[in-house]
Amino acid sequence: MTVYFNGAFMPIDEAKVSVLDRGFIFGDGVYEVIPVYSRRAFRLAEHLQRLQHSLDGIQLKNPHSESEWTGLLNELIQRNAPEDQHLYLHVTRGAAKRDHAFPIPAPTPTVFVMSNPLTTPSANLLKSGIACITVVDNRWLRCDIKAIALLPNVLLRQAAVEAGCAEAILIRDDSFLTEGAASNIFVVKDGKLLAPPKDNLMLPGITYDVILELAAANGIPYEVRRVSKAEVFSADELLLTSSTKEVMAITTLDGRPVGNGKPGAMFAKLHPLYQTFKREVMRK
Ligand code: PDD
Repeated sequence: MTVYFNGAFMPIDEAKVSVLDRGFIFGDGVYEVIPVYSRRAFRLAEHLQRLQHSLDGIQLKNPHSESEWTGLLNELIQRNAPEDQHLYLHVTRGAAKRDHAFPIPAPTPTVFVMSNPLTTPSANLLKSGIACITVVDNRWLRCDIKAIALLPNVLLRQAAVEAGCAEAILIRDDSFLTEGAASNIFVVKDGKLLAPPKDNLMLPGITYDVILELAAANGIPYEVRRVSKAEVFSADELLLTSSTKEVMAITTLDGRPVGNGKPGAMFAKLHPLYQTFKREVMRK
């Protein structure tokens, strides 16, 4: 596997980071995950905009212009074998003597990008749907920043895995839905798709946007608003989205069936729309 690290392309074993890197010491950095279809980075402009939003959120100057990012990401895609990949892009504040406040002068940011094969959900999982648990969203109030400090998300996802589930659905203030530990969540009720608003309490998902665009273009009713915990538990269907999972049905919640316990009518509409979009738009 060839990676990009601080200005050069190299085998992953040669990419070495300082133990004083603030990403290592403080989790002081941000990241992106970008799917690549037929060697084309999907919604690159939107991913780079979200990266800029995250960098602004931690007051870190973007180490590259949009055209530099585009050039180096495309070069990395070409240097790796799979036609479909997912890029993991990571920027930290760089290495400096340990002190919580920003170092003066500012160190050179650390930039790392790797590519892995993109593996989308298996036919079996699409047919059965996945099991989820609900957990308390105990994260901070800037979940719109795609921060590398993911300890809460790690612990919440681990709780799901230990319960034999694929994902944890996060409930804030014992009151409303935010998102999944590493995904966005939609509720379906009476034929309508309900989406939590893109505020400071969730990551503005790129796949989330695609799903709402597909709904709008295909006459599927949807509403963007706060979704209550009660609505999650009384949903006809629950859907999960992310760049790597695309769109999946959640068929079990906290050990009980969601709706009739099978992927429902909304999933049956949206999944093929997403696959068509993938063939006709993402691969172009
Ligand atoms: N995670 N919410 C959170 C907390 C996420 O970590 C992710 C994605 C999403 C979905 O965003 P998108 O549709 O842009 O992938 C929502 C990535 C895949 C990850 O951390 O691996």
